[in-house]
Amino acid sequence: MSQHLTSLRKFVSPEIIFGAGCRHNVANYVSNFGARKVLLVSDPGVVAAGWVADIEASLQAQGIEYCLYTEVSPNPRVEEVMHGAELYRANNCNGIVAIGGGSPMDCAKGIGIVVAHGRSILEFEGVDTIRVPSPPLILIPTTAGTSADVSQFVIISNQQERMKFSIVSKAVVPDVSLIDPETTLSMDPFLSACTGIDALVHAIEAFVSTGSGPLTDTHALEAMRLINGNLVQMIANPHDIALREKIMLGSMQAGLAFSNAILGAVHAMSHSLGGFLDLPHGMCNAALVEHVVAFNYSAAPERFRMVAETLGIDGRGLNHNEIRQRLVQHLIDFKHSVGFNETLKLHGVSMSDIPFLSRHAMEDPCILTNPRESTQKDVEVVYAEAL
Ligand SMILES: [Fe+2]
Repeated sequence: MSQHLTSLRKFVSPEIIFGAGCRHNVANYVSNFGARKVLLVSDPGVVAAGWVADIEASLQAQGIEYCLYTEVSPNPRVEEVMHGAELYRANNCNGIVAIGGGSPMDCAKGIGIVVAHGRSILEFEGVDTIRVPSPPLILIPTTAGTSADVSQFVIISNQQERMKFSIVSKAVVPDVSLIDPETTLSMDPFLSACTGIDALVHAIEAFVSTGSGPLTDTHALEAMRLINGNLVQMIANPHDIALREKIMLGSMQAGLAFSNAILGAVHAMSHSLGGFLDLPHGMCNAALVEHVVAFNYSAAPERFRMVAETLGIDGRGLNHNEIRQRLVQHLIDFKHSVGFNETLKLHGVSMSDIPFLSRHAMEDPCILTNPRESTQKDVEVVYAEAL
């Protein structure tokens, strides 16, 4: 019998075009799919930044019709997905383009699912629930963090239940991702900090995930190196396009890693928080990360030692307890150095919310690949530490 050295692993990715200015070529990719009319999904902030006008100009130059839909909240909602799908059908669209942060991109993915199946987005919660392929989907990220443009994830907010739900399927990986670092010039320092830390968390969680492996490890480690080495400088020099490119590349690699290795308790807990209080995703992750790392360390000490080394911590001569302490302190210092000083308490989270939050975190698919098996009691303790 042959000896298998590695568990079976798969790796999915969209066609990726990476480079400053590539958003201007969107119409070429729309044409490649033979689309005559596209639903163009974005949000008011991205319109105000001028990025939507660039996409419209490209489409107009090639005579491609479009219907603009920008009613997307910072945490995209069930109703917004359903409304976008109605517009798609009413306008006889046959392709979707989205430009923005994670919210317009996730909303666009949701619209694709709904128009393909003709059913409510609420029916697709979970893993591998998609049966019918979505229409051609082209995504253009304007933040360096969420990686919805390369990932198998869709996160939608159910306002009625005050929770977010996840859809995980290779069917929601877009056909094309146009990753243009110039579009991140409109991020303010706080958004840059939150999305950058989100990307760093993607890389760390993917590397220690029980779904990690050689196909994702190199992406995760390189993402950690790029984000750790350039985020502070990028925030201090917001117009430096070379630094923007490095962070965008780091974010993309973190996305490829987590899309295929899945995530862990930081994301399970932050999805629950974001759904309950409508808080920004990156902020929730940033508030939780060092507490979850401290909890998880003992379940994957060799992996966390590699994380620590990649983040520049010299672990020679140190035992695992000492490396754990240095890693936790590094994450705290890194957050402060990018100007992140938020706590959950500041945003209205209280001890009495913790049982509800923990119950929903335990139902999130990301908890399944967390390196340390967690009970609801464990999750409650970590939330309490993060308050
Ligand atoms: Fe994330």
